[in-house]
Amino acid sequence: MILITGGTGFIGKYLLDDMIKKGYDIRLLVRNGSRPPELNSKKIEIFYGDATKIDSMKGIEKDIDVLVHMVGAISLNPEENFLANTTATKNIVKLCKEVDRMVYTSSADVYGPTKGKVDESSSPHPNNPYGKSKIDAEKIIFVSGIPAIIFRPTIVYGIGSPWWKYGMSLLKFGFVPDTDSVTQVVHVKDVSRALCIGVKKGRGIFNLADPEPMGLKEIFSLIVTLMGKKPMVVPTWLVMLASALMNKRQYFEVAMTNRSFSIEKAEKKLKWRPECDFNTEFRKMVDWYKSM
Ligand SMILES: NC(=O)c1ccc[n+]([C@@H]2O[C@H](COP(=O)([O-])OP(=O)(O)OC[C@H]3O[C@@H](n4cnc5c(N)ncnc54)[C@H](OP(=O)(O)O)[C@@H]3O)[C@@H](O)[C@H]2O)c1
Repeated sequence: MILITGGTGFIGKYLLDDMIKKGYDIRLLVRNGSRPPELNSKKIEIFYGDATKIDSMKGIEKDIDVLVHMVGAISLNPEENFLANTTATKNIVKLCKEVDRMVYTSSADVYGPTKGKVDESSSPHPNNPYGKSKIDAEKIIFVSGIPAIIFRPTIVYGIGSPWWKYGMSLLKFGFVPDTDSVTQVVHVKDVSRALCIGVKKGRGIFNLADPEPMGLKEIFSLIVTLMGKKPMVVPTWLVMLASALMNKRQYFEVAMTNRSFSIEKAEKKLKWRPECDFNTEFRKMVDWYKSM
């Protein structure tokens, strides 16, 4: 049986669909007050609990062979990150120390800003509380001795993404920062496929990203264009000033981080390669936003 935590989130919903198709027996951690997904499968058992409160998860580990741990918070608030990423991981690892293997969604944010492509052997230098809390969570997993595969996805896009939804709500005004930064994204279906591979094989750390980085200015301009507007490229300091006045400066700082990652290890060892076409899937995501 597979235990999935964080299965009610953006990536989790895609993963759950894929896992149901594969016919796995699944136990799903769901927070009290959170709506369990509508399930057409009798092979999913709901376990109500809060990953930050170990007592609420007693017994969750019974009969579990594989743990897929995705509980997390992508927040700029250090306290929120620490609880959802580090404390939650500490708790679940403590309860599930006897599982055969563990799959964990860390983040490429652990690297911090990159100069050139970084691979999994590069030292982490996280520059925000989220990345720091993810590195702490990874250390907890390593020390536990549980056979684990740790994925470091870059920014994930696709229909349902709360991160991009927020970004699009800022970009709808049409202003695009004149930045030379590059970023590398990855589609949620490609991430879900990697997680499914991770359930079966692989040990250690693996970056997940599309093969090549793209200019942030180009991505932001594409969003504005797909929204039916003409992008207005403005100096970065002006965007920073405007976002500070809207109390959203930190979001832009994180979004504008230079990111470039090598995925050679995942290609070689897991035979994973992104399959989703950026232009097609990005348009679908913007259409989803516009339809809300
Ligand atoms: N999206 C990205 O771009 C990205 C990139 C790299 C890594 N990741 C990592 O991938 C994982 C999933 O990301 P996501 O985008 O799917 O995030 P998400 O949509 O915010 O989902 C987070 C999941 O964690 C659950 N959760 C949070 N706190 C919990 C708690 N105390 N107890 C139980 N469940 C709790 C949420 O449950 P509720 O439904 O109750 O809120 C939800 O299922 C996270 O660990 C994230 O850090 C994401």
